[in-house]
Amino acid sequence: MEVLIFDKDINASLYAAMIFSKLVRQKPTAVLGLATGSTPCLLYAELRRQYEQEGLDFNGITSFNLDEYVGLDGEHPASYSHFMRQALFDHINIKPERVHLPDGRSNDVPATCADYEKSIIAAGGIDLQVLGLGGDGHIGFNEPTSSLASRTRIKTLTRETREDNARFFDTVDAVPRHCITMGIGTIMEARQIVLLAFGERKATAVKQVVEGPISAMWPATILQMHPSAVVLLDEVAAASLDQKDYYREVADNKPDWQRTQIASK
Ligand code: GLP
Repeated sequence: MEVLIFDKDINASLYAAMIFSKLVRQKPTAVLGLATGSTPCLLYAELRRQYEQEGLDFNGITSFNLDEYVGLDGEHPASYSHFMRQALFDHINIKPERVHLPDGRSNDVPATCADYEKSIIAAGGIDLQVLGLGGDGHIGFNEPTSSLASRTRIKTLTRETREDNARFFDTVDAVPRHCITMGIGTIMEARQIVLLAFGERKATAVKQVVEGPISAMWPATILQMHPSAVVLLDEVAAASLDQKDYYREVADNKPDWQRTQIASK
């Protein structure tokens, strides 16, 4: 797991956008794993900018989102489908038929989840997955105690997550109790993972993810086992890390061949 600490969230997001745009240029049929929440907003804004100003082409790109609330249709302003259209899809040339989110209105949730897994496999697997981080260490909506081998399925949201996400609804009671989320096993099959975490609210979870023991109590800790995961942090989110200076030293002293490798990745 590579840990990079930036002075501000915007610079971490620009770095993430560089990883995404490189892949999109090098593999115009790439499969992207996308996330919702406030964290990836600056990343999506930069991808929109590159589409508008630099001709970044999403015409052949396929996307799979991590999760969706159960019971909300795609037009609901707090649905992740609506969020993704506003944040990204409506502003770039990705083909609507290549955009995938779990169907929160399905009448047969297990079948929907199984189909979602099949669609990811049929698309060739996810090349690059962006993740935000829940304050309780969740990725997607895999709450603490989720099986680290889980696949796409229904989950019950914790009170903490519902309170965190209440800002997108009128009241906390309006936040759905259930969601469909890619499993941790599903996420771990992505070829490359970029985890973004910004702000004080994430510092405890970040400490666990980077330096804690792997545990279902902090689901994102499983990323320590991923062969190609990078964690992009701002100063505040990184504040509790014991090895902060070492991560900086690693980043500042990469051998030239490694820098070239990153530049051409
Ligand atoms: C939400 C989403 C996650 C997201 C996380 C953090 O519940 N399901 O995918 O990463 O919470 O949200 P935010 O980026 O708004 O802090």
